[in-house]
Amino acid sequence: VSLAKYNTFRFDYLAEFLATATDLESLKALLAWAKHFKQPITMIGGGSNVLIAADVPGLVIINRLTGISAREQAGNQVSLTVASGENWHQVVEHAVTQHWFGIENLALIPGTAGAAPVQNIGAYGVEIKDVIARVQVINTTTGDVYWITGHDCGFAYRDSHFKGVWKGSLLITAIELSLKKQGVLQLNYGGLSERIEGIPSLESVFNLVCQVRSEKLPDPLAIGNAGSFFKNPIVDQKHHDALKAQYPSLVSFPFEAGYKLAAGWLIDQAGWKGKVFQGVGVYDKQALVLVNYSESLADSLLDLEAQIKLSVNDKYGVLLEREPVQLPQSAYSSVEVG
Ligand code: EPU
Repeated sequence: VSLAKYNTFRFDYLAEFLATATDLESLKALLAWAKHFKQPITMIGGGSNVLIAADVPGLVIINRLTGISAREQAGNQVSLTVASGENWHQVVEHAVTQHWFGIENLALIPGTAGAAPVQNIGAYGVEIKDVIARVQVINTTTGDVYWITGHDCGFAYRDSHFKGVWKGSLLITAIELSLKKQGVLQLNYGGLSERIEGIPSLESVFNLVCQVRSEKLPDPLAIGNAGSFFKNPIVDQKHHDALKAQYPSLVSFPFEAGYKLAAGWLIDQAGWKGKVFQGVGVYDKQALVLVNYSESLADSLLDLEAQIKLSVNDKYGVLLEREPVQLPQSAYSSVEVG
């Protein structure tokens, strides 16, 4: 079965078996089937944070678990429980319509609610780890369903245990967000506060984030892409200071003990922005995004990736790390991706 319509790069590789899970019961049945026939499992949500680079062995499960419910807590809190197959942006829209604060800066991020904690989605100064109370998971071997609190998920910049030690053993079935009826708007991130007109409100921040994203990021329905293709690299103070001395316009932010560099800036300044190469390219409005114009296989993209990494390493001594998850992982491990 072709996976072309299940990944936003639209690469046309095959799944050995493909099935859709619409509720917990059908997901359990699929896991039992895979266990019985000793097939590896790959779960795909929106397919917007994945790079498929070969045919995928075993069972690919398309996550279409649905359902949203809200519980008003005492005081200022609202807890919003969302099944993992729900579209993330619709969850954000729902929260903003209900006038609940917390995820407005995460508007227009493609993909499903269940994929959001896997890579700890983040934008404009907010990460999902800031609002996630619990994550409901299913154990792929036993079929047990249980909740894990956000604190235990190992959230870090574009990372979590779901990408690491839990890969293969746990799939996300729902998330519980802790939102606020009265909240503080986050406007610190580069240029958000300067661009807002009038007194900032929940709705105006949401609208501005949508506007900024639409200006800079390609719509996956129009051009194949998976958002940022690289993570923003983190370097130590010494490396940062040397680069800053050589390139005064370097874009960087203090991060933990060192600095986070804007990979988009590094790639842009190395001359890659807008470059087209064998049917793929570097997006002309944001150099951190690689795009697929016409390819059905990933070879050109992998080639372009290698060239960019080499060039950025040569120029700045910085090793870029890929952001989306590559499929297939290994033939016998199960995995969940965006
Ligand atoms: N920049 C350039 N040239 C470019 C791109 C960026 O000079 O071609 C500079 C910008 O001028 C700006 C800085 O780099 O000063 C940062 O750019 P931007 O605000 O666009 O954000 P980013 O660091 O490139 C990160 C996330 C995005 C998220 C934005 C906004 C990562 C890997 N990416 O990008 O997330 O939307 O911040 O918060 O952290 C994603 O993960 O798929 C994604 C799109």
